[in-house]
Amino acid sequence: MNLRCSNPECATTLDLHDRALACPACTDLLEVAVDRVANTPGDLKRMWLQRRSSYAPLDASGVWRFREFLPGGYAEIVTMAEGNTPLVQGKRAAEWAGVRHLSFKHLGWNPTGCFKDLGMTVGVTEARFVGAKAVGCASTGNTAASLAAYAARAGLTAKVYLPAGQVSQNKLAQALDFGAEVVQVDGSFDLALDRLLQTLNGKIYFLNSINPFRLEGQKTAMFEMLEQFEWQAPDYVIVPGGNLGNTSAFGKAFAELQAAGLLEKVPRFVVVQAEGANPFARMWRSGASDLEAVENPETAATAIRIGNPRSWRKALRAVQHSNGFVMDVTDEEIAEAKVMIGRDGIGCEPASATTLAAVRKLSARGQIDRDAVVVAILTGHALKDTDFIIQSQRLHESVSGLNS
Ligand code: F0G
Repeated sequence: MNLRCSNPECATTLDLHDRALACPACTDLLEVAVDRVANTPGDLKRMWLQRRSSYAPLDASGVWRFREFLPGGYAEIVTMAEGNTPLVQGKRAAEWAGVRHLSFKHLGWNPTGCFKDLGMTVGVTEARFVGAKAVGCASTGNTAASLAAYAARAGLTAKVYLPAGQVSQNKLAQALDFGAEVVQVDGSFDLALDRLLQTLNGKIYFLNSINPFRLEGQKTAMFEMLEQFEWQAPDYVIVPGGNLGNTSAFGKAFAELQAAGLLEKVPRFVVVQAEGANPFARMWRSGASDLEAVENPETAATAIRIGNPRSWRKALRAVQHSNGFVMDVTDEEIAEAKVMIGRDGIGCEPASATTLAAVRKLSARGQIDRDAVVVAILTGHALKDTDFIIQSQRLHESVSGLNS
């Protein structure tokens, strides 16, 4: 395996373990070029299922179980049995949203309560492999918590840059609990990311989702979801969009699985942003060929309060390849959807509830068929942002009104 430029028109390749953050020729983001897998699709499906009954650490991980499609050669893997998250049916949520077949793929039921763990097991393993002593990221909270946990296990120093006053206390508490050094930046996530990029000096291994190894881990969520559907793809996969790493990772999964004969039909991707932090949705609606950043992103779904998503080019290719689309929902719609997910006994953080809000909106407009098979990706656990829940108490009290 090696690294290659994610721009299909630029053929540049680099050594797999090169620490470059962008293509030296065209500055687009890099990705891991996965080697052709020798096994047949049938063998792969059987082998991946069999590993579920093994307690060996690599098999017990819902990421490394799919290692035929991951970078390898590591003597030691930093893992906490991440992945292995269920598909859960949301009966009341489905009724509320106006569809019959709705499942939640709950990535919030990972070790630190968020999908980021899927990426960190690979990212931190790679960081240690290349000899890093310290790892760093900018974060709206979840990446910081996950980075801190995996760095702690790997014996690395973690340095996290957070937008001051804009991160849920629960997530900040996790980062502290796992011993991260916290730098509070006066400004948005986008500024915190710029600040970290300016201070990188080769001593800190950079682990935002620009890092291609992160996306390798995150893509396995789609391997697992398709396995749960016995490899019959759902019609729609709805995913919240912030910095657009996850969208990019899922798109990579579908492309690779299709090329390997494991997937016939790619599900349509719907990327959902919060209305106050919606540069990708704006770009999609306007048909512009370049992304225009939102200067002061604002949404109560703080995880996705991002104005300048770095992976938009990769994400755009993924959405287009799937014949999908991009949309946004208001904070009110997010809050209502979150209450409904809670009423199914599932729970999630606000950013995740954008997905159900989107399904309801699409079904009300007749854009999603009532009988479509829909998967909403829940990205974070309900306990990630308890202030939001307490502050929405009135909405909870009026939930019977919501039901009618
Ligand atoms: N949902 C949650 C709960 C998140 O924490 C994030 C991103 C997203 C969705 C969006 O994912 O950026 O890949 O499009 N959180 C990052 C962080 C930015 O720092 O924790 P994305």
